[in-house]
Amino acid sequence: MSADTAPALTASGVTVRFGGLTALDAIDVEVAPGTTVGLVGPNGAGKTTLFNVLSGLLRPNEGAVHLAGRDVTRLSPTVRARRGLARTYQRSELFTELTVRENLVLAYRARRRTHHLALDLLGLGRRRDEQEDATVDGLLARLGLDEVAAKLADSLPLGTGRLVEVGRALAAEPDVVLLDEPSAGLDEHETELLAEVLRRARVGSTVAFLLVEHDVDLVLGLSDHVYVLDFGRCIAAGAPEVVRADPAVRAAYLGTEVET
Ligand SMILES: Nc1ncnc2c1ncn2[C@@H]1O[C@H](COP(=O)(O)OP(=O)(O)OP(=O)(O)O)[C@@H](O)[C@H]1O
Ligand SMILES: [Mg+2]
Repeated sequence: MSADTAPALTASGVTVRFGGLTALDAIDVEVAPGTTVGLVGPNGAGKTTLFNVLSGLLRPNEGAVHLAGRDVTRLSPTVRARRGLARTYQRSELFTELTVRENLVLAYRARRRTHHLALDLLGLGRRRDEQEDATVDGLLARLGLDEVAAKLADSLPLGTGRLVEVGRALAAEPDVVLLDEPSAGLDEHETELLAEVLRRARVGSTVAFLLVEHDVDLVLGLSDHVYVLDFGRCIAAGAPEVVRADPAVRAAYLGTEVET
């Protein structure tokens, strides 16, 4: 398979065992360029475990991870990031002593590796670059963060911090973004902003998203394709409307709300 036609990201036969527990059982996931893929499932289904395998934090017992057709199973999270994989972190991973805008600028420069991080930390704001400004300011505007751009990252409410995380991931101009429950802690307005940002990020771009979310309606509304995990197994996969109607999915979600 050539790099042009390869999926942006794949997991093939990924199995993870924690002692006697099989947290993931031969899971196959494929994320095509320019698409949004949802990953849902009840508590303990294995979503975060798969996410950790894809981002390189956890080595699977079996199976492989490919990024743009290249095997990255044994590569570190840092190397995967340089190869175009971005992810959102908990808010505490933001540079709290820097402003919102500076956090995005660092992410933009880190991927391009045009600067040394330490020099950036010392010299932020000294140097101006039109393309950098356009990318960063465009993202700030789209995320509704213009008004807090000059504020320190640790002075923000939780919901705003989550949006900054998404902005920081996108500022790296990644090929694939892993979003770990990005709507957690967001209010309704912020959730709508986030959904709009994710929709618009794809226009004229080949960036792909893998979305781990508890907000099922948000995932089904945004995704081209959805995988449903339950007890480490993939119990359904397909277009959102197909997955929503699937009896096995409804059974797994019994007691939680999947609206019809
Ligand atoms: N480091 C670990 N050691 C042992 N068991 C673990 C470990 N991490 C996860 N597990 C177990 O693996 C299973 C899958 O957990 P995981 O966190 O991936 O689920 P999840 O789908 O992300 O759930 P949630 O929706 O609650 O976040 C669970 O039974 C969990 O208890
Ligand atoms: Mg989880």
